[in-house]
Amino acid sequence: MLIIITKDYNELSKRAADIINIEINNKPGLRLGLATGSTPIGMYKELIKEYKEKKIDFSSVHAFMLDEYYPIKKSDKNSYYFYTHEKFLKHVNIKKSNLNILEGETKNPNKFCNEYDKKIRKNPLDLQILGVGVNGHIGFNEPGSSNQSKTRVIKLTENTRKINSRFFKHINKVPKNALTIGIGTIMKSKKIILLANGKNKASAIKHLIEGKIDKNWPITTLKNHKNLVVILDKEAARLIK
Ligand code: GLP
Repeated sequence: MLIIITKDYNELSKRAADIINIEINNKPGLRLGLATGSTPIGMYKELIKEYKEKKIDFSSVHAFMLDEYYPIKKSDKNSYYFYTHEKFLKHVNIKKSNLNILEGETKNPNKFCNEYDKKIRKNPLDLQILGVGVNGHIGFNEPGSSNQSKTRVIKLTENTRKINSRFFKHINKVPKNALTIGIGTIMKSKKIILLANGKNKASAIKHLIEGKIDKNWPITTLKNHKNLVVILDKEAARLIK
């Protein structure tokens, strides 16, 4: 595990974007897993800037969504489909045909998730970007998720719904379920970059770096990954010895 502690969120975002830039330049056709949440927004801004400066070309990149609420309409401002387009995709040259989405409107989520999982396992992602929930979830793999888990429908904890309700008009509007790439499938990625900023992530980060592998802290499974880069700001790193 490589741990990078940055001075602030801007530096964190820049470091993450720099690694992505190098990986894309090194491997045409890179398979890239896109994270959601507020944490990677700065990284996406930096990637867009580098794209506009012609320092990066996404034309051969294959992008994969990591998670999505369920059910949710693509047009809903809180869908991760909407987020991914607004914050990133509409500003860069990732081809539509190279975009793999988790479909919040599907009528058959189990079948959909099985097929999505097979698509990834057949040819694992080269680089997965991750944030982390306050409770240590990665993607929407909530505490208790198996470290072998596949892409599936998951019931969100009330705690996650409450934390994420900041983006919705009311907590009642937060979907009760989600679709997420499983932890086992995430672990197949050749490289993972995990980003965390702010003091409310410090406990999850301490579990990752100093704790044992524990189902109640899904992030801890990443300890076993051979090529994990953790990029933190000072606050997220504050509990590490
Ligand atoms: C959300 C998403 C995760 C994200 C995490 C942290 O619920 N499902 O993919 O990593 O929670 O979000 P944020 O970056 O807004 O703190």
